[in-house]
Order: sequence, then structure tokens, then C-alpha cells
Amino acid sequence: MNITYYGHSCFGVEINGKHLLFDPFISPNELAKGINVNTVPADYILISHGHGDHIADAENIAKRTNAKLISSAEIVSWFEKKGIENTRGMNIGGKIKLDFGNVKCVVAQHSSSMPDGSSGGNPMGFVIESGEGNFYYAGDTALTYDMKLIGDYRSVDFAFLPIGDNYTMGIDNAIIASDFIKCNDIIGMHYDTFGYIMIDHQEAISKFDRSGKKLTLMEIGSTLKK
Ligand code: NI
Ligand code: MN
Repeated sequence: MNITYYGHSCFGVEINGKHLLFDPFISPNELAKGINVNTVPADYILISHGHGDHIADAENIAKRTNAKLISSAEIVSWFEKKGIENTRGMNIGGKIKLDFGNVKCVVAQHSSSMPDGSSGGNPMGFVIESGEGNFYYAGDTALTYDMKLIGDYRSVDFAFLPIGDNYTMGIDNAIIASDFIKCNDIIGMHYDTFGYIMIDHQEAISKFDRSGKKLTLMEIGSTLKK
């Protein structure tokens, strides 16, 4: 599995040669100016919720790549009205089998409206199962006891968790979340992009370390093998 960081909560994950792209927000992100959004690969675009900092480049990338857009039924139908036809609407608790593995939608405690104010349905996280490993992409969420179900349901090898606080859980709650999901290998997201979510990287890494966990804060544009 190859993981590429495009800034904020946007990651590309390559599994069995297929490219999954999570929460594309690249071109408006000052920190991601080095990324050419027109070359980001995608076979599947997974969207956790409707906020602008998670969907900004979804329409463009979906139209360029014809990737399958996977999200809540509400978000999918919003994009269908923009002419995107390759979609899969889901809801929390649902699981689908695709050519690279399975996608299961799980609870996120957050909100979800589209940029025009229409409803995005419920926000979600994703559990991905594949022959190359399993992981959890939390989306924007508070710490919630529902995460214990993920730990009981499937062993995840690593997890993408928000750590920036203010709009989502912060570092201390993300450490508890990693206990709930029974996973000690965490990739941080949703930090530094805006003033309210700036974090001290070294302090965050040290806090995870003192709890016996590994926090990775990827450089934007870098790729990690798992
Ligand atoms: Ni949000
Ligand atoms: Mn957000």
C-alpha cells in the first residue's frame, strides 16, 4: 500500500494498483501549492462529509478521472446534479465490495452541509479492508464510543485520525480514539491548514509516544509505504 499526503485531510492510498482518494481539498490549500491537482490519480473518491475543506476538488478530479465517487447518498446526489455519473451512495453501517477490497461506512460525530447550504446527510468515516491490509479513515469527528465498535469489528493496521482540535478531536482525544480502535499506528490529519487548528508537531508526536503509540505527520507531497 502506498499513501500519499495532499494536505489537510486529503490522502491518496494505492491498493493493488487502484487509487483511492480521500476528501480532496488541494487547490484552495495554501500549504498544498506544490501539488498539481490535475495529475492526482483516482479510481475511487471517498468523501466523508460535505464541508468545503473536504470536497473542494472532488468535482474536477471526478470529471477528469471518471473515478467512482463514494459518499453519503445525499452528497452523491448533490454531485450527480453537477453531471457526475459514476457514483455510489452509502450510509452508516453499510459495506460494499469493490475490486481492491471492501469499504464500510462508520459513525463520525460532526456535521455535514454542502457549500450551498443543502444537507450532506450524516458525516461518516470509512473502514477499508484489503488483501494488503486494513485501515480506518475517520473523517472529521469527535472522540466517540462508537469507535470501540471499529476495534471490535476488524483489526486495523493503521488509522487516519484528525488531531487539530477546534472542529474535530485534538491530540489527547485522538490518543484515546486509538485505544478504542485498538490501533497504535496513527497518521495525523486536519491540522495546520487554518489558524484554529495549528499544532505543535513535536509535542503531538511526543504525547503519542508517551502513550506507546506512533503518530506520523506526513510532509505534503510525500509518499509512505505500508
Ligand atoms: Ni468538517
Ligand atoms: Mn473539516
